[in-house]
Amino acid sequence: MLDGTRDLTAELPPRPPARKGKVSLWNYFRLFRKDILSAQPAHLYRAWMAEMRTPFFRSYLCNDPALVDLVLKKRASDFPKSERIRVGLKPLLGESIFISNGERWAHQRRIIDPAFEGGRLRTVFPAMWDSGVAAVERLKPLADGSPVEIESQTSHVAMDVIFRTLFSEPIESETAQAAYAAFCQHQAAQPVANIFAVLPLPKWFPRFHSRKTLKTARTIRGLIGQLTGQRARAIAAGTAPDDLSTKIMTTPDPETGQVFETEEMIDQVAIFFLAGHETSAAALAWALYLLATHPEWQEKMAQEARVALEPDKIYFSALSKLRHSRSVFREAMRLYPPVPMYVREAACPETFRGRKVRRGSQIILSPWHLHRHERLWERPDEFDPGRFDTPNGKECLRSAYIPFSAGPRVCPGSAFAMAEGPLLLSMLVRAYRFNVAEGDRPVPVAHLTVRSGNGIRLRLTPRLSGPKQDTMT
Ligand code: HEM
Repeated sequence: MLDGTRDLTAELPPRPPARKGKVSLWNYFRLFRKDILSAQPAHLYRAWMAEMRTPFFRSYLCNDPALVDLVLKKRASDFPKSERIRVGLKPLLGESIFISNGERWAHQRRIIDPAFEGGRLRTVFPAMWDSGVAAVERLKPLADGSPVEIESQTSHVAMDVIFRTLFSEPIESETAQAAYAAFCQHQAAQPVANIFAVLPLPKWFPRFHSRKTLKTARTIRGLIGQLTGQRARAIAAGTAPDDLSTKIMTTPDPETGQVFETEEMIDQVAIFFLAGHETSAAALAWALYLLATHPEWQEKMAQEARVALEPDKIYFSALSKLRHSRSVFREAMRLYPPVPMYVREAACPETFRGRKVRRGSQIILSPWHLHRHERLWERPDEFDPGRFDTPNGKECLRSAYIPFSAGPRVCPGSAFAMAEGPLLLSMLVRAYRFNVAEGDRPVPVAHLTVRSGNGIRLRLTPRLSGPKQDTMT
């Protein structure tokens, strides 16, 4: 192309090479540590189920939609979250909803769910909009056509959304800055869910936390403690803003009447920061990359955003007009599900597809493989947001699309994320044109969230001056 960028539409979006042939257990662990995705064999893109046997352990990766439905929805309580997942996350998350099971989890869920119900989205929408305005402003000095590392930008805006919606504070506030810096350090030391969560090691195998992990976890929890402490005082004084944390801290469990204790609230805020930030950041970064490589979709979206978001007013109803943006965000999460695998444990003996599954076996649901399954999706490796209007796309959306998981443990932030993602994408694409630089191709890797191993660099140029902040309607 004349401007030194290239049209990559003809190329398929990057997918890590699959492992070739069989490997020893030791080599599997080694590959796994490097990247969960490329450690897997290619046949998982075609198999309905795959069994892995180790001297200590058996694990079953399930791609059969009926099995996925059984494990996540129909008999979810017979397949609790694996105890292994707690290990890596405990220093930061304590007893948070993400890692709890049984009655403790049900109690937490009864308090948290109402904060994310449909009506609440309207309340937090202006905060999302403000984050979008701030992101467009932040990118202004970088939009001169030179490469911008986009994952750090999407990480920044996703954290800003969380701070504004939870605590009515922008990320520029002092505590938010300190917490964000500590989160970045923590994730470098201990990514969202650690490798031990999916590695089929026996439970007695020792797991260690680095000193850095423990220290950053303590710092983050201390900062969250300050935020929740301030908020508790504001609630008592009747001066608290109507945001997510006020809602969660004042909602009693409808069955027991109990509200969250201080420590419990710290656990929950920690998971909101972690689960709500890294996942949205990854999805946004991949969506922008895919738009840069598919300019026809980018133009469609920019056109849609110009109409839906004009004349610079914060209309909640604008969301329903962002149809292309929603499809693009959905398709980006099909190809790059931010959480590529979930782990459950069989609480009792089972028979899966005629095979005996022992109690305690590890059950793996893999959106990464399910979303690209060759026997389910048409043209599974192609980027085509229009697929969701086809019979195959509609059917797969129902039975083979689980970026937010499904059933009782479905992500409580899914509606929030499906508002945040399309809105931010539209605001960004309305303000800037995104291009890929010659020769730059990200390599997807997963340490439980799917990021690019070599970063995602995009060239930005302005389309028109960024949206002005205006009134809520
Ligand atoms: C694109 C954005 C997001 C994606 C793809 C995503 C995905 C997921 C997935 C797959 C799970 C289940 C994991 C498992 O079963 O092992 C989950 C759980 C959870 N997510 Fe999200 N999430 C997103 C955004 C958010 C946001 C914005 C919040 C809150 C602010 C949030 C809060 C949570 C919580 C609290 C859980 C634990 C629920 C439970 O175990 O009952 N997520 N998320």
